[in-house]
Amino acid sequence: MKKPVIAIDGYSSTGKSSISKIIAEKLGLIHLDTGALYRGVTWFALQNCLNEEGSIDTHKLFSSFDQIDLEFKNDNGELVLFLNHIDISKAIRTNEVSENVSFVAKQKEVRDFLLQSQRSLAEKGGIIMDGRDIGTVVLPHADYKFFMTASIEERTKRRYEELISLGIDADEQQVKENLLIRDKIDSEREIAPLKQADDAIVIDNTNLSKEGTIESILSHIKKF
Ligand code: DC
Repeated sequence: MKKPVIAIDGYSSTGKSSISKIIAEKLGLIHLDTGALYRGVTWFALQNCLNEEGSIDTHKLFSSFDQIDLEFKNDNGELVLFLNHIDISKAIRTNEVSENVSFVAKQKEVRDFLLQSQRSLAEKGGIIMDGRDIGTVVLPHADYKFFMTASIEERTKRRYEELISLGIDADEQQVKENLLIRDKIDSEREIAPLKQADDAIVIDNTNLSKEGTIESILSHIKKF
């Protein structure tokens, strides 16, 4: 039987990526964190496409797509992101990238630029992809769709702890504000907004442990 395609969407810091990674390991699937792609483009823009005021110049960015070579390398089932052959997995987690990524991700040109590579990765099946528009736009025919949510307090705590564990300086209040702003921009943007697909299963993990969330998702997936 063909390995399934699983779409996991939801709010920032609901644990989508870390949970998808574990499920991928358990089920022998590839895991793709699509937020990393948007963060990669944002990192590139911050390095190469700033205007005189120090903000991202979208026109410069759109005309630089041919200089952006985003490549995933398979590291034991985990796809690690390289930009022009540089491992940017840590660089894309900084506050500077987090503060600019929703602005970059709401640009139609950026979404179009990233869409095809996400779809091609799912063609053979056997993938779990997490993001904001996977079940609605990228893979509307996914075999399983989940939509993850949790309270803002819980999400702030998780994101804060993630940053600290990565050795990145963080302030809880600032983390909370960034999450709220990103949720707002991501949900209100015109193109491919963060939205629950009609056929998605909602997982509210405010009071669930990581293991509990994984169990809850796995309980919906049939043997293959
Ligand atoms: O999952 P994340 O927090 O690393 O995602 C970073 C940003 O990328 C998020 O604020 C919105 C954007 N994003 C998106 O627009 N569509 C996706 N499929 C994944 C992420």
